[in-house]
Amino acid sequence: MQAASTEIDLNDLEKKGFLDIAIDPSVDLVAEIERMKKEKNAVILAHYYQESEIQDVADYIGDSLGLSQQASSTSADIIVFAGVHFMAETAKILSPHKKVLLPDLKAGCSLADSCPAPLFRQFKEKHPNAVVVSYINCTAALKTLTDICCTSTNAVQVINSIPSDKEIIFAPDRNLGAYLEKKTGRDLILWNGTCMVHEIFSHEKIARLQVRYPKAKLIAHPECEAHILEAAEYVGSTSGLLKFVQTDDAKEFIVATEPGIIHQMELACPDKVFIPAPPNNTCACNECPHMKLNTMEKLYRCMKFEQPEIVLTEEVIRDGRACIDRMLEISRASGL
Ligand code: 13P
Ligand code: SF4
Repeated sequence: MQAASTEIDLNDLEKKGFLDIAIDPSVDLVAEIERMKKEKNAVILAHYYQESEIQDVADYIGDSLGLSQQASSTSADIIVFAGVHFMAETAKILSPHKKVLLPDLKAGCSLADSCPAPLFRQFKEKHPNAVVVSYINCTAALKTLTDICCTSTNAVQVINSIPSDKEIIFAPDRNLGAYLEKKTGRDLILWNGTCMVHEIFSHEKIARLQVRYPKAKLIAHPECEAHILEAAEYVGSTSGLLKFVQTDDAKEFIVATEPGIIHQMELACPDKVFIPAPPNNTCACNECPHMKLNTMEKLYRCMKFEQPEIVLTEEVIRDGRACIDRMLEISRASGL
């Protein structure tokens, strides 16, 4: 096998910025990544929204809850997080003594960006008795201001765990928050954030697709807007959607979430048809531009140079951890 042509010393790497380093096109990226996993005792955790090639080299592919559970229990020395920044931060909080790498540090999240911690602190001060529940899609700084974290898999259980006489602030996703109000019958004080991917689906174009595929079932992630969720036959997290298509009798599904999940759906159900729900414009805006910043080349470079690394202060790790631990406890108690 051809060795990488990038034998550059670390000083040069720092000066140049390692993202600019060219990779010899003859390098077998898959084989090299597999070799480095063994050599460095590294584990690759990938979210379902990653490109399919990355999913295929991952040791674990999952939703935000599953990825957090893996990050807290892995015995690897290095966690390579093929996902976005808040996910890698969560892994670092859960495994502070491990090296956590993210192939592209710019892989952010519009939901996390919509809720800056200083502004949220002021919002929280207006409701001093409220319990703060934050969707895991938020920064580590926001987690330090949070009582209980949740993901779309366990959000109902997390809300139901809070005594009914308590006020609840839910941040940052107003669509998931509104969906939880319906599911739990609780009034939530909502932060006004959204996911740029899940708010772009076109009701009209989906209706047209349903004319073309009359037997197709619409399934949706709860980050979608209410009008899409009301039209959907099933609403759930990415792992929920994946389970649903495996157990449901339908043969065709219109999938209203980031289309990266369709790779696992097709692998699990090769006889079924999965149609990505179209956005309300002509671009591929239903693809998450943050998730898709990670590429095989960046994954390879990141494993080779063990950069970029997620670094958090001791304070953030200490104060951000309790809300994630509470979420994991509630999930365990609910059998999730
Ligand atoms: P889940 O995989 O937990 O459903 O979350 C989806 C998502 O938007 C991650 O950014
Ligand atoms: Fe954030 Fe939405 Fe991308 Fe998920 S799909 S990482 S919520 S921007």
